[in-house]
Amino acid sequence: MSPKQLPIGVFDSGVGGLTVLAALRQRLPGEDLLYLGDTARVPYGTRSPETVVRYAERVAGHLLGRGIKALVVACNTATTWALPALQRTGEARGIPVVGVIQPGVQRALELTRNGHVAVIGTEGTIQGGRYAAQLRQARPDLRVEGVACPMFVALAEEGWVGDDPIARLAAERYLAALRGGPDTVILGCTHYPLLRAAIQAVLPGAVLVDSATATADDTASLLAARGLLRERDAGGRSRFLVTDNPDRFERVGRYFLDAPHRPEVVDIEDRDHATWHGLPGSAA
Ligand code: DGL
Repeated sequence: MSPKQLPIGVFDSGVGGLTVLAALRQRLPGEDLLYLGDTARVPYGTRSPETVVRYAERVAGHLLGRGIKALVVACNTATTWALPALQRTGEARGIPVVGVIQPGVQRALELTRNGHVAVIGTEGTIQGGRYAAQLRQARPDLRVEGVACPMFVALAEEGWVGDDPIARLAAERYLAALRGGPDTVILGCTHYPLLRAAIQAVLPGAVLVDSATATADDTASLLAARGLLRERDAGGRSRFLVTDNPDRFERVGRYFLDAPHRPEVVDIEDRDHATWHGLPGSAA
């Protein structure tokens, strides 16, 4: 099969990356997408960098073993800790790898007028500081603040989304100190677009940047530049894999993606790690 015909691999620690999948589907309706939610190991947001890199490489190896033409890391925490390693190995293996941070950074740089940007995300994403580093690298004069909002993930997965009163209270607690400060706030976690209304109610003057759309645009440009775009503008199919609890993925996933997505359960093993690194015993 020509590489063009292969699906784009998309992965996240769980259901959250479905926000990115939805954006990819809209931007690239002719592409097949193969989504893997590492639901046996979620959350990534509280794990150490080494652990996140190991998990991410195994997941990447599993997708590579099934045949993909590009990999989208649809998780901010995995992008924070694992993207450089994934890109190094991916390039060596002919697989372009896209993360969610650079596209969000780019969008925020275009939008800010007062030069004050906030990033909100998991503990890992905020501690990792990759958003802040990339923003400052592009514009050293920028004022950047990071706020970890770990409770938002649980709220989104509970379906307490939109401007639900509890989501609103949590947003108030985490974000009130930003009021009157940043004019641009990056939603640096896959789950946060579901809490957009609550966040916007606390920060009515700020523009909220959702990196899912920007990531889909970047993926489209990258595939076009590498001659990997499928020549059709509809008919793409999505398949879903999880490492645990398919029922929960299907149920909670409905808050993230308005379409059927019954997943297949897969085991991620050491062999998948070897596959990613092209080592003996690997499948690809
Ligand atoms: N998908 C993760 C992220 O975007 C949030 C959930 C988790 O902690 O694994 O950072």
